[in-house]
Amino acid sequence: MRTADPCVLVIFGASGDLTARKLIPALYEMHRAGALPAKFQVLGVSRREKNDAAWRDELALSVQKHAKGWDAAAWSNFATCIHYFAGDAAQGEMYRALAERLGQFDAQDGTRGNRLFYLSVGPELYESIVQRIEDASLVTEGKRWCAIDRDERSWQRIIVEKPFGSDEASAASLNRTLGRVFEETEIYRIDHYLGKEVVQAMLVLRFANTIFEPVWNHQYIDHVQITATETVGVGNRTAFFDATGAIRDMIQSHLLQIFAFAAMEPPTVYGAEDIRAEKIKVVKALRATNASDIAAHAVLGQYAASEQEGAYHQLPGVSAGSTTETYAAIKLHVDNWRWAGTPFYLRTGKRMAKKRTEVVVQFKPPAANLFRGVAQSAGEAIGNRLVMEIAPDERTRLRFESKLPGTPFRIANVEMQVDFDKEFGVEPVEAYGPLLVDAMRGDQSLFKHGREVESGWAAVMPFLGSGSSDIRTLINANYAQGSWGPAAADEMMARDGRVWHNDE
Ligand SMILES: NC(=O)c1ccc[n+]([C@@H]2O[C@H](COP(=O)([O-])OP(=O)(O)OC[C@H]3O[C@@H](n4cnc5c(N)ncnc54)[C@H](OP(=O)(O)O)[C@@H]3O)[C@@H](O)[C@H]2O)c1
Repeated sequence: MRTADPCVLVIFGASGDLTARKLIPALYEMHRAGALPAKFQVLGVSRREKNDAAWRDELALSVQKHAKGWDAAAWSNFATCIHYFAGDAAQGEMYRALAERLGQFDAQDGTRGNRLFYLSVGPELYESIVQRIEDASLVTEGKRWCAIDRDERSWQRIIVEKPFGSDEASAASLNRTLGRVFEETEIYRIDHYLGKEVVQAMLVLRFANTIFEPVWNHQYIDHVQITATETVGVGNRTAFFDATGAIRDMIQSHLLQIFAFAAMEPPTVYGAEDIRAEKIKVVKALRATNASDIAAHAVLGQYAASEQEGAYHQLPGVSAGSTTETYAAIKLHVDNWRWAGTPFYLRTGKRMAKKRTEVVVQFKPPAANLFRGVAQSAGEAIGNRLVMEIAPDERTRLRFESKLPGTPFRIANVEMQVDFDKEFGVEPVEAYGPLLVDAMRGDQSLFKHGREVESGWAAVMPFLGSGSSDIRTLINANYAQGSWGPAAADEMMARDGRVWHNDE
């Protein structure tokens, strides 16, 4: 494993929510863990005027609230590397002064010309900032030797937040703009779900054991459910959410990433290039759903009014007659040898019964049922089921059938589980931290490739209501707040002889 290189992290969007709530607390945690490079500076850029001291004071409050373990001395030490730069990133004039400031870091702090740009601004600014970085010649990778040390090439990398495009065409356009300025090896499309331990643990579970991989296919697996539900609503993000919806916000980004880890072929080695190549392949293998099949493959819904709170469409900031989905469940097929005939169900929703992110792998029943005359203690056989819980708990559970002690002879479904907190005694860190350090180390294993993102968009485009079959007419599937979603979603599963994994 390479250590993180000296560098300047340039955060566009310094005064924003993501920087205060996630990025700086995550960096502080990494500082305390000793994972940041010894020569490291943060330069935050946004338009409002403030000085380093004022920004550090604001960030200190946020770190106390959002990071694990406040240590005033550790913060004071870390805060010396945090700096603020006021400027409009959409205007070219700012970049000359920015380049000078970056040069000062190289000269005084040994950051070697290495830059990690972070686009933590609204997506409408992404392309224009990338273009201005190019115009200001801030990307020198591959073009000249680093001015500081002739034995080292400097690097310039860019982290791009979600949303990465709003459809297939806009994602392709953003990829083209990025590709004109940065090599693909320097573009880090971030999805913080991939910084979560259990998502990475899925690769270890699958590929460091011999007992799962031989049965990880359509012969033994009946179907897979990938769920990310929340009990909260859209909060103060109404305008953003109403223009985006649950498919774009959750399914196209996070859930397809988890899908790729669950469904990909084993890479040859645990390395970025091999992992990314396999993820691209499996996402590309997702079948484009025909317009005529959409109604049978998707349920979209909006939460209705409850006694305490109005319906989604009554929220201030939601457009009149909005058909934006707060719930979506879609069924996807993978057209490859491993998964032929085994569907993946992806669902997400706001104001649902429980906060839960998990992958449920439901195995098929045994080929012959030796115990067909034997009573099941729970009524019906559950069979073999592997549940990988990602949030709020980090747990892996395996269910199987066992004999209930005593007579008469009865069968019960039992469970083995590993709770990551209890087993390893380590509290999970903010997922952004390890990902930021990976970017400083030049490790793209947990970042999305441009082709993967475009293929992911291609798979969800049929559900976004483009073309003549307007899926948004299905939005009449309303659901009660605090429930598990529209009845139509249960009916979709029932038609396939399956049920959602809800209450266990
Ligand atoms: N917040 C989250 O939890 C979260 C999670 C996942 C992804 N994201 C993504 O991350 C990005 C940032 O989200 P956010 O929630 O932090 O947004 P935000 O709170 O609205 O912050 C936006 C930031 O951009 C700055 N900005 C706007 N125009 C600028 C310009 N022309 N030049 C320089 N700075 C400019 C703003 O500061 P000034 O007004 O002072 O310029 C502010 O610092 C978005 O793309 C969002 O989709 C956010």
